[in-house]
Amino acid sequence: MLYIIALTIHILSVVIWIGGVAFVTLVTFPMILRMDKSLEMVMMFQGTEHRFGKIAKVMVILAGLSGLYLIYEKGTSLGVWLMIVIWSFYAALLFGFEKMIFKKLFGQPSNDMDTKKVFNMLQTFHWIVLGLSFLAIIAGVYAGHY
Ligand code: HEM
Repeated sequence: MLYIIALTIHILSVVIWIGGVAFVTLVTFPMILRMDKSLEMVMMFQGTEHRFGKIAKVMVILAGLSGLYLIYEKGTSLGVWLMIVIWSFYAALLFGFEKMIFKKLFGQPSNDMDTKKVFNMLQTFHWIVLGLSFLAIIAGVYAGHY
């Protein structure tokens, strides 16, 4: 019974968190990139990241804790290690590197050209992160069913 609860928490947190990353990548970024003014772009981005950042942090913690319990029940495998590696990358991003990157990107005043370039880079980065998330989902399904 506890196994089912942990697995449900694991999947729900992963759905909310990776669903959010997919939304930001597929919907928010294209909207931002269609805007003309840098201030508008930065405001929209920061508004989204500010709200979603908190949700993502809670979900990453829940996915990690439920994952630990799942290991206790089922043990580890290659798929589980792959999930742990990708999870660690996310945790490092959310709890540390993100601030460093933002400071570098938004620290100095910039003109409209620079802002477009920065958001193009950020979108590419989100595509990479989304691709890695899909890999973690595949690893999880493999670990659970093979
Ligand atoms: C990027 C983050 C993660 C994603 C997207 C992810 C996704 C998944 C998915 C989709 C499953 C499949 C469940 C099923 O089909 O029955 C799963 C199971 C599992 N996950 Fe994760 N997970 C992540 C992080 C973690 C972490 C950090 C741990 C360990 C601390 C972990 C440990 C496990 C275990 C042990 C299972 C169960 C395997 C089994 O039933 O034998 N996962 N995960």
